[in-house]
Amino acid sequence: MAVRRARANILGGLAVLVVLAFASAEVTAADTSTPSAGETPQGRGYRLLTNKPYVPPDFDQEVFDELWKTWEEPSRSKAAKATPEERRRMAFARYGLTESPDRPGSMAMQYTSDGRGGWVLNCLACHGGKVLGRAIPGLPNSHFAMQTLSEEVRAIKLKQRKLSAIEVAAAAFPLGNSNGTTNAVMFGVALGYLRDEDLNVRIPDKRPDFVHHDMDAPPWWNVKKKKYLYADGFSPKSHRALMQFLMVPVNGAAQFREWEADFKDIYAWIESIEPPKYPFAIDHDLAAEGQKVFEQTCSRCHGTYGREWTYPAKIVPIEEVATDRVRLDALTVSQRAGYERSWFGQYGGEHVVDDPGGYVAPPLDGIWASAPYLHNGSVPTLWHLFHAGRRPVVWQRTEDGYDSDKVGLEVATFDELPAGVTDAKQKRRYFDTRLFGKSRGGHLFPDELSEPEKRAVIEYLKTL
Ligand code: HEC
Ligand code: HEC
Repeated sequence: MAVRRARANILGGLAVLVVLAFASAEVTAADTSTPSAGETPQGRGYRLLTNKPYVPPDFDQEVFDELWKTWEEPSRSKAAKATPEERRRMAFARYGLTESPDRPGSMAMQYTSDGRGGWVLNCLACHGGKVLGRAIPGLPNSHFAMQTLSEEVRAIKLKQRKLSAIEVAAAAFPLGNSNGTTNAVMFGVALGYLRDEDLNVRIPDKRPDFVHHDMDAPPWWNVKKKKYLYADGFSPKSHRALMQFLMVPVNGAAQFREWEADFKDIYAWIESIEPPKYPFAIDHDLAAEGQKVFEQTCSRCHGTYGREWTYPAKIVPIEEVATDRVRLDALTVSQRAGYERSWFGQYGGEHVVDDPGGYVAPPLDGIWASAPYLHNGSVPTLWHLFHAGRRPVVWQRTEDGYDSDKVGLEVATFDELPAGVTDAKQKRRYFDTRLFGKSRGGHLFPDELSEPEKRAVIEYLKTL
């Protein structure tokens, strides 16, 4: 009995180990890019982040080039007739990938080459997106179709006889139910369970309880204002915290020490990012009125802006903010405490907040660009955030459309999924707020404002 249970745990453990790295190949970790003369730490950080493979490749070019063969009609026929370049663009649009601003025409911004044609997922998979068609490293990737991509990669790998048994086992781990959001927090839990406090790989004696749920990544330009990271602000900020995503099994404990210097520079780069400027006209008189209202009603939680900014880093009790609570409850007090005892938590002397009890009010810099809103990405525009009763039950974005009236994503809205949307891949193209962890409720603070005040505050938010 005990043996069988141990074996089930090992299998369960192995399955989650490969979630982020479908292949079991070794990490080559050779950075092939050349440093520029007089490179700054943040310059080096960005170069490493985008050029050095820290995890094994997910697939090779030959797999990528055949993905279209898995598509439903009429996309498949269209792709069959398209030129390789058009097909590549279609694949980018389908999976939420963007052209890299540094190396256009090659691998997507969200991937790094392993130097042998392998596509290695990098941090920008979730932390590099586009707004109005413009790619911005550090902007959350609100297009990333991680689940659909990994399913279609598996289908082609099976055809090309490249699929390992372990990748089949990993298929059960959900990656994300709505395109643009991912189950990233549970990846962290899964990978963390398979390490001791010094990050040696171990087989846990019990399978962790997973509460699968999807998150919208926060924009990186706000990291510099924070002392604590994540929606619930539990983790003190440090370069080590950024390294959790590297816990795939091929990266042994020594690897983390070796790469620590890289991540100090990656951290320096993240702290140097500035938010993009609102690209359309702003009514500055209206914005000035909005600023006054904002400072009376919002600043106590969201701080003040401009050169003399303040940021209170307030954790607001869940009962008060009343947004979806799944994320808060999905991490337990003992899991957060375990993180503190681990190598990630042993840095800089700040303590983990093991029972935060709510969510952090984030800085609102560049808020115009980082739609959708709230930690779960359930609200498509600022206007909807300010009109809680009018938030759509189901919505679907356009590829690059921007709603400069409501300030946020251009969307079609529905009271339920349109008839005929039954296939899981099709469903993921809609954000359905009735699903677990995806509630659109809460944050009713703007309710106390009159309609003209709301307009003014939204105008002000464009200036941040
Ligand atoms: C699969 C998607 C995904 C990948 C890949 C990923 N992240 Fe994240 N990241 C997230 C999500 C989602 C959150 C929000 C989690 C939360 O708040 O609970 C997050 C949060 C963060 C934060 C906290 C930001 C804040 O304002 O609190 C930092 C910093 C961060 N990630 C850095 C990284 C780095 C560095 C890498 C690469 C080594 C990386 N992430 C890879 C999805 C991802
Ligand atoms: C009592 C504290 C509090 C007050 C007052 C408050 N907020 Fe918030 N706000 C929060 C918290 C906490 C969140 C994060 C909630 C979540 O993600 O679930 C948030 C989230 C937001 C977001 C979404 C941020 C993002 O990146 O998705 C916006 C925009 C926002 N607030 C604007 C405002 C405005 C404008 C006001 C004033 C009318 C205001 N808030 C008043 C606590 C507050």
